[in-house]
Amino acid sequence: MAKAFPQPLRTAFRLMGKRFLPSYPFEEAYFLSYARQFREALRMPLVLLGGINRLDTVRTALAEGFEFVAMGRALLREPDLVRRWQKGDVTEGLCVHCNKCIPTIYRGTHCVLVPPDQRPGHQ
Ligand SMILES: Cc1cc2nc3c(=O)[nH]c(=O)nc-3n(C[C@H](O)[C@H](O)[C@H](O)COP(=O)(O)O)c2cc1C
Repeated sequence: MAKAFPQPLRTAFRLMGKRFLPSYPFEEAYFLSYARQFREALRMPLVLLGGINRLDTVRTALAEGFEFVAMGRALLREPDLVRRWQKGDVTEGLCVHCNKCIPTIYRGTHCVLVPPDQRPGHQ
């Protein structure tokens, strides 16, 4: 992530990053077990989010009473992911959860693995 920041943030991040951003292994739908407790306790529409990368996760969430799912990094990596699933290719999204999209918020949020000419909005 440090590499993705411009200087002087890069150096600051290298020196301090690990202190305030510990590393966690990726887990599909990493909030699901917590969100289920909210689903159980609340009578209001809820949106599940966090690490949704697979169609079966979306189906599980909807079957369990979540009104919607929200997908962040998966759609930055593959903006047409939902359309791909609709067309029948239901393999999981291509996002590798590297989080290198996070520092791009300062210069037009994007996935660093998507070539510039394939990013949404490219003319
Ligand atoms: C590029 C990017 C920037 C984000 N910025 C923030 C932020 O400023 N504050 C925050 O609470 N969450 C932020 N998030 C987290 C999202 O709000 C959301 O919880 C998360 O991306 C959902 O998980 P997913 O990306 O695995 O689908 C950001 C996520 C991404 C991908």
